[in-house]
Amino acid sequence: MATGTSQKIVTGAEYVQQITALESDRRARAAFLDLALKVAPPGAALFDFGAGPGIDARFYAEQGRGVAAYDVDAKMCEFFAEHCRDLITAGSVRLETGTYPQFLARHRATAGSAIDLVTANFAPLNLIGDLNELFATFHALTGPSGKVLASVLNPYFIGDLRYSWWWRNAPRLWWSGHFSVPGAQAPIIRRRLADFAGQGAPYFKLERVFRGLPSKQTPQVNGVAGRPRHRPSWMPMTTSRFLFLLFQKCGLRNQARPH
Ligand SMILES: C[S@@+](CC[C@H](N)C(=O)[O-])C[C@H]1O[C@@H](n2cnc3c(N)ncnc32)[C@H](O)[C@@H]1O
Repeated sequence: MATGTSQKIVTGAEYVQQITALESDRRARAAFLDLALKVAPPGAALFDFGAGPGIDARFYAEQGRGVAAYDVDAKMCEFFAEHCRDLITAGSVRLETGTYPQFLARHRATAGSAIDLVTANFAPLNLIGDLNELFATFHALTGPSGKVLASVLNPYFIGDLRYSWWWRNAPRLWWSGHFSVPGAQAPIIRRRLADFAGQGAPYFKLERVFRGLPSKQTPQVNGVAGRPRHRPSWMPMTTSRFLFLLFQKCGLRNQARPH
């Protein structure tokens, strides 16, 4: 997936070639995987949303986590099935396919799954228009202490300031909290942190925000590094293309039910 306004869909083997080519992408992936393992200890059950070719799913399973995964793109799923064939056969990885409405319906119908951590690496959440509906589904998918860890596009990434589309949309980002640009697969929606937090509620609370790169100094908070969302330090944040957002599941009382 391009992060600007590309119209060519890159999927399957071609995607793997692109996403593993750049040192910066490899470092971003390493940082995300490291964080996911800190949040979800050995034996935990993970659900990788927008799993793509299965690079992360394979890694999590090899590190002793149970993995289920879903991607909407048929070619990605084809690559995933081949890449993780032995683990799928062994039962440590399970791949879900089908349309996005089918995915939502399937999990809303089976509320009470016991996933410990939903992951979404390299910005699948930036391709979803109705995020609140997706968080409702993650709520159904997860156990009582469930978490969501998502790598999202940083709307304030300094490297994007050279593009006219960023400046054209900056007022919209400021006033409405998000903007979208055309993408090959779906519109690419950049959101402010408050917008992500609002889309998560009442199902999940945005708890911590991490710079989407390996950290030089790693403060540990409850075993997990990062800054509370009310104390972001924006200067270092602007140099990272991605932000990692950690959400904690909220208990729903009678007034709020998954829609
Ligand atoms: C940039 S890729 C990231 C893939 C993988 N997570 C990784 O780390 O390389 C974004 C992925 O999100 C998937 N995606 C887009 N819309 C989706 C949707 N509605 N439901 C599930 N997956 C979706 C795409 O097919 C694509 O595989």
